[in-house]
Amino acid sequence: MTTLPEFRIEPTDLDAIAKAPGRVAVFLGEGGRMDACGRRVNKLTRGALARFGQSDGFTKMKPGQAATLAFPAGLAAQALDVVRLDRRPSVDEARKAGAALAKLQGKDDCLVLAGGIGRAGQIALGHLLRAYQFVDHKTGDQTRPGAVTLMTDKVDAVDRDQIVALAQGVFFTRDLVNEPANILTTFDFATRLTALRDLGVEVEVLEEEDLEKLGMRLLLSVGQGSASPSKVVVMRWNGGAKDAAPLALIGKGVVFDTGGISIKPAAGMEDMTMDMGGAGVVAGVMRALALRKAPANVVGLVGLVENMPSGTATRPGDVVASMKGDTVEIINTDAEGRLVLADVLWYAQDRFKPAAMVNLATLTGAIIIALGHEKAGVFSNDDAFAASFLKAAATEGEGAWRMPLDAAYDEKLKSRVADMMNVGGRDAGSITAAQFLQRFVKDGCPWIHLDIAGVASVKSDTTLAPKGATGWGVLALDRLVRDRFEA
Ligand code: BES
Ligand code: MN
Ligand code: ZN
Repeated sequence: MTTLPEFRIEPTDLDAIAKAPGRVAVFLGEGGRMDACGRRVNKLTRGALARFGQSDGFTKMKPGQAATLAFPAGLAAQALDVVRLDRRPSVDEARKAGAALAKLQGKDDCLVLAGGIGRAGQIALGHLLRAYQFVDHKTGDQTRPGAVTLMTDKVDAVDRDQIVALAQGVFFTRDLVNEPANILTTFDFATRLTALRDLGVEVEVLEEEDLEKLGMRLLLSVGQGSASPSKVVVMRWNGGAKDAAPLALIGKGVVFDTGGISIKPAAGMEDMTMDMGGAGVVAGVMRALALRKAPANVVGLVGLVENMPSGTATRPGDVVASMKGDTVEIINTDAEGRLVLADVLWYAQDRFKPAAMVNLATLTGAIIIALGHEKAGVFSNDDAFAASFLKAAATEGEGAWRMPLDAAYDEKLKSRVADMMNVGGRDAGSITAAQFLQRFVKDGCPWIHLDIAGVASVKSDTTLAPKGATGWGVLALDRLVRDRFEA
């Protein structure tokens, strides 16, 4: 498990600057403008900060960018990190500034002189998020990030618990998504979710015999080729009013997707360790909500299965009945995510009568063709609900783009032998997948489907994450809960 760097918040103490070990970070505004912290650093360094502020190097820096002055004379620190940031930064700029510091930090302790700069908490959040490293399976020397001390004039304006809750939620999601499938089996995944009980989350694990009784044949058909048993885990956070209907979050948790009998090509198949990304986000959100004791009722449900080819695996052409009762002709066993979600969506509505539902899934390669790795696909049956989510995602800097649903696409799912097929051909592959899911959403239930195949894990560094799992969606969904589901 990846732990957060040590993180402290302290009131500004100009006299502590000279003797701080490790690194000191200071902020310069446009034209090299300094606040009181900057002026003290400048005095200690005999004008080095002011000279840097007037240099070409600084003028070329964008808000949120950082540069290092090594071994600054007059300071005990080994490095002075100078960040370009104005007094009233945007959330994005503040997080970016923190992230820039995390990249420079290495194993050193870092004293961040936020002084009178607004959104100091966002600077810290950016710092913590970018300090993430997945090193659980690396032996030998490791550079664990040093401690982060945020010095600010307005200690009371920074909600430490909130920042830590969000960062812990994102770290949880990233660890789950980065974990290889021999370690994160369905069993191991369920065990990690069960540990959320320590935070006050009610956790229930439904085993294969329970799923059999409930009639979740579609979900079971995906896992029946694997030696790992299929499971559905239900996580309930009841922080809201006693009888308020919950928001339901539903995640695709395919711990590994070989494609099954419709097997995938060898090249790149290792990336399918991230096919539980939807479930990983649900887990991260539940963790964040519990840690910040959110005054809302939220239920998270994840379908945990492994899609393997074997003598017991589903064959192309098999017809399977869903929990809802509709039958599906499984043309392609690699279109498995929608089968898992269909049953979990139905179960969520049947049991919890949710006020609204959001499902997340690394559902289609086609969404990567459409939107790349910048934005997730947003499908919804409710314009107002979709708008709330898009606003939350924009606020949190997580890319999201609305895609269409339309009955006209249903034509492509018609089956000769069953009520529907599980694939609709190459054209509009993400939309036919969404249309399939919508058949398992009851009329009147506001619903959003997030296709996160392109954003859950990426091959290059992003502003707030090193390459690999991003934790996309944890911040946006936490924000959505705050905006729409809290008293
Ligand atoms: N897990 C994949 C989708 C995926 C692709 C996720 C790339 C992340 C990166 C999904 O189960 C799948 O295999 N989808 C098929 C559907 C097709 C058979 C209709 C796809 O996208 O090719
Ligand atoms: Mn697949
Ligand atoms: Zn899949």
